[in-house]
Order: sequence, then C-alpha cells, then structure tokens
Amino acid sequence: MGWAVRRLAREEEERKKLYSDRELFVKVIKIFGYYKAETFSVIAIIITVSVFSSLIPIIMQRAIDSFIYVGISTERTKGIIIMAFIYLTFILMNAALIFIRTVFFSKLGQKIIYRLRTELFRKLQYLSFSYFTETESGRTISKVTNDVDALGELLTTGLIDIFADFFSLIWIVAIMFSYDIKMTLLTFTVIPILIFVILMFQRKVRVAYRKTRVAIAKVTANLQESISGVKVTKALSREEENISTFKNINQENYKANVEAAGVSALFMPLIQFISAIGTTIILIFGGISIIKFGTITIGELYAFLEYSNRFFMPIISLFTFYTVIQSGFAAAERIFEVLDEEYTVKNSENPIIPEKIEGRIEFRNVYFSYTPDVPILKNINLVIEKGESVALVGETGAGKTTITKLLSRYYDVNEGELLIDGINIKDIELSFLRKNIAVVPQDVFLFSGTIMENLKYGKKEATDEEVYRVCKTLSLHKYILNLPEGYETDVKEGGSRLSLGQRQLISLARALIADPKILILDECSSSVDPITEALIQKGIDILLRNRTSIIIAHRLSTIKNASKIVALDHGEIIEQGTHQELLKKMGKYYSLYETQLTANTIVTEESKK
Ligand SMILES: Nc1ncnc2c1ncn2[C@@H]1O[C@H](COP(=O)(O)OP(=O)(O)OP(=O)(O)O)[C@@H](O)[C@H]1O
Ligand SMILES: [Mg+2]
Repeated sequence: MGWAVRRLAREEEERKKLYSDRELFVKVIKIFGYYKAETFSVIAIIITVSVFSSLIPIIMQRAIDSFIYVGISTERTKGIIIMAFIYLTFILMNAALIFIRTVFFSKLGQKIIYRLRTELFRKLQYLSFSYFTETESGRTISKVTNDVDALGELLTTGLIDIFADFFSLIWIVAIMFSYDIKMTLLTFTVIPILIFVILMFQRKVRVAYRKTRVAIAKVTANLQESISGVKVTKALSREEENISTFKNINQENYKANVEAAGVSALFMPLIQFISAIGTTIILIFGGISIIKFGTITIGELYAFLEYSNRFFMPIISLFTFYTVIQSGFAAAERIFEVLDEEYTVKNSENPIIPEKIEGRIEFRNVYFSYTPDVPILKNINLVIEKGESVALVGETGAGKTTITKLLSRYYDVNEGELLIDGINIKDIELSFLRKNIAVVPQDVFLFSGTIMENLKYGKKEATDEEVYRVCKTLSLHKYILNLPEGYETDVKEGGSRLSLGQRQLISLARALIADPKILILDECSSSVDPITEALIQKGIDILLRNRTSIIIAHRLSTIKNASKIVALDHGEIIEQGTHQELLKKMGKYYSLYETQLTANTIVTEESKK
C-alpha cells in the first residue's frame, strides 16, 4: 500500500517543473488549434448567449417604466401582455442557445479527450523499451485515464467558461456604467471583501481536497493489493485482518470527504451574502435616488439590480475555477511528459529495407549498460552464421537475455556494432527488423482471447492449417484439443487459465507461426516436464531448419545439439564451441555441465529413497 500513497503525496507536493507555465499554457491552447472551426463556433455561441441574456433585464425595465409605473389604462394592459410575450420569447430563445452551447461544449470536450487518449495510446505503442522498465505501469494508466479527463475538463468547462465569464464581466460592466456611473462604483466596493473570502476559502478547500485525494488513493492501493495478493491472503487466512485494515482506511476517506464537503458547503452561502450586501447598498442608494431626486426610474433600478447580480457570478466562478485550472495544468504536464518522451531507439535518417533477411548475425566489440557506470555486456564478439543454432549459457544475471534484447533493438548498443547480413541493425528499418526476429521471452505473456487468437498474434493472415501444422510438430496439438473448447478456449487475462508450461508452449508456437528468419528462444520450455520437453525439442529441431536461432536454456541437456555453445560470465564471453569441444576444454561449460549432472543424480537418488 505504501508506494502509491507516497507517490501521490510526492506528486501533490512538488509538481515536477518540466515546462515553464508559459510553455505549458501555449501547449494547452495549441490543442484547440486542431479544432479551429469547433472552437470558433463555441466562442461565437458564448458571445451570443452573453449578449442575448443581457438584453432580458432591458425588456423588464421597458415593461415597468412604459406600462406599469405610469398608471391605470386598458391601452397599457395590452402593452404589458405584448411585453410579457416578448419576454417569454427571449427566455425561450435564450434557453435554446444555452442548450446549443452545452451540446457544442461537450462535443468539443469529448473530441479533445478522444484525440488525447488515442495519441497517448499511439505513443505508448511505439515508445522504447526503456520507458516501460523505468515507469510504473499504474502511473501510465492513470495518465491515459484520469489525467486525460482532468485536462479535458480544464479545456472545456475550465478554459471556455473562463472565457465566457471574462467576456460577460466586461460586457456587463460596460452596461452598468452606461446606466449609472456612481451606482456602478458603489457596487465595486464589495469586490475586495469578495476576493478576500474566496482566496481564504480556496486555501482551505485545497487542503481538504488534497486530503480526500490521498485518502482515496489509499483505498485504491489497498484494494488493488488485496485483489492481486488474494492467493497469499487465503493461504495465510488473513481475511479478517485485511477487512479491519480496509475499514480504517475507508474511515479516513469518509472523514476527509465529510470535512471537504463541510468546507465547500459554507462557501456558496457566504458568497451570496457578500453579493447581497452589494445589492443592499444599491437598493438603498438607488431607492433614495428615485424618491428624492428622481434621477433614475424604477425600471432602471430593477435592471441595474439584475446586472449587479450577474456581475458577481463571473467573478466568483473565475476564482473558483482556479482549482480546476491548477489540477488541469498538472494533468496536462503529466500528459505532455509522455507525448514529448523521446524515442531512445528510433529509425535512422534513411532506414534500409533489405529485399530479405538471410540471418547472419555478428556482434563486433559490443559494450552495453542499462544504467551508466554499471557495465552489463563487455566486448562481445560473436558470429552466428545463417541457419546456425547458437546456445547461450551462463549463470543467472550473466547477460544472456540482454544480448537478445540488443538484437531486437529493445535497446541500442553503447559501443561497437551489431550486424545482420553485414548491415548495422541501426540502419535497418525498425519494424522490418522486428518482423524478421521472433522472440519467445522468458516471462511469457498471453493476451486475453482464445488460444487461436494468441497463436495468430504475430501473423494475422495465418490459416488455421498453418497453425495446426506448427502445433502438431511441437506435439502441442493434442494438448490443445484436450482443453474444454480446444483452440477456442479463452485463456483469460494474461493466460491465467492455463498452466505455466502450457503458456510457454503457446508462446513458442506463436513465435514459430510468425515464421521469422531469426528466432530467439529464452528458456522457452523451462516449466515443462522433461518428457514433454524432449518431445517438443524434436519439434523445435525441425522448425529451426533454415532459420538462425539463439537458444537460452539452463537445462543444458536441451542445447547439446546446438551448432555452437557460448558461455557467458558477468557479461563476457568466456568460451565458445560445440558441446564436445567445450567438454574437452574442461572450463566453465564443463563445470556447469558437471554440476547439473551431479545435481540430477543427487535428485534422482534422493527420490529413489
Ligand atoms: N532493465 C534493466 N535495468 C537495469 N539493469 C538490468 C535491466 N535488466 C537486466 N538488468 C541487469 O542486467 C544483468 C543481466 O541481466 P539478464 O537478464 O541479461 O540476465 P540473464 O543472463 O538473462 O539471467 P537469467 O538466466 O536469470 O535470465 C543483471 O545483472 C540484471 O540485474
Ligand atoms: Mg534471462
């Protein structure tokens, strides 16, 4: 639970300043640039609505001054009815305009959200490997979901409302001045009090709001952990403890929200009271003006009171939107952080797409490190001829998987060169390169969907027959047919419905169906029982014909037949040769092999007892 909460607190406290406020503002405004027509129509509607609704008090003023206030007469009764109809028509038209404004608003907002999400997803699909190893996936997911929503809200309800408020503020002030300069200035006297109260509240609201965010993060983190750790919970019967921990956290969330609600509940009444003070001042001053001096009419006073009310609304919302703006900009920053992320591995200026890949691989003085100052691979020199099958062996952490990651260009070498068919792989078009190399990774991953869909993942156009052929060769066909729904079995998220060994086999078949020139098998059958493994081994041998392959296996029995075995130790190649040659050498490979044999004998003898 700890990490999520700490992270959130950190994020709330110190907003990472990747961009200056100005840069960020320009970037945000630029988003509207993609929707010029929509933005302009929204602005036009906003202006129309503001101007239009500001005409309504004038109708009332006319009704009062020209027909009501003057005395009793049938002529004027007609006039009143006409004015009432005009008033009603205006109100209806205004309502229609507001409806159109809201529809346009939401549509623009949703378009922006749609676009940002798609762009983020596209970026994530192509981002280099290092991004994903260095970023928690939860953070990235939150960017695509929560932050996009927050930015969407800023862009529509936030920025557009601010524009609308700002416009009506100026417009109404102009109208008020045209009515009465003195009364307008009197209205302004309450503005300082209003701003003071708003600012004071803002601080309080922000503190309360932050507490609720931390509290809900704790709830989510606890929930997430208890769902993913359900096996351990059940095994150790921790249900009751977990429930009481959750209760406490949930209680915190409850308190934080009640507190926040209390603070914001006070806000509106207080603000209304202050603006009512403004109205009172005008009522007294305006009333005296009418009674004593007759400088203004009753209708004018009425209209002025209406305008002064409308004058306070935008001021209030301009200040209250401040919070939306703050969180919106923070979200924008987190989104642009991804969108502007550099591709560390990218195509060269003029990438080459060779006619076809033959499959000769050469590492020339290759050095590599994930983090500066921690060298992982040192001076790797290795030639793998076309069609050859080379095995990498070495202790855990020796750098075997790393070598294969360089070949697919998940990372670029720091020094030296990596060539395929004599071409530096940095010059080969990236997706062409990767299409020609299939990897069966050490940590198997299946997508939710059927087995068939998973098998065709690397080659959409593969026929069912092709799939069956590969599966038969790997002795996998009958296993799949034994499953309740055969090839149509849904493997569920991450393949959770299958055993680890079954997942490995499907992952292997998936790579072979993609039919690549170069194949990398990283511990592809380590969780399969020895008998099945021997069967699969035969299949692999057949399917590897005419392909260059790199095989990594801890069980040395599976790689005896490789054309060359390369022993790695702490990122360096210490030996290479065939199984027999290396055994004769009595070096590292020999001792690894010996240890495994002895370990096997010990295990076998133990089990006989
Ligand atoms: N993304 C990474 N960032 C930093 N260091 C890494 C990263 N991935 C691997 N390493 C380090 O690189 C070294 C080599 O890792 P690698 O995965 O190549 O080992 P391996 O030989 O495949 O081991 P195993 O047999 O356990 O699979 C290890 O010391 C590991 O800690
Ligand atoms: Mg590995």
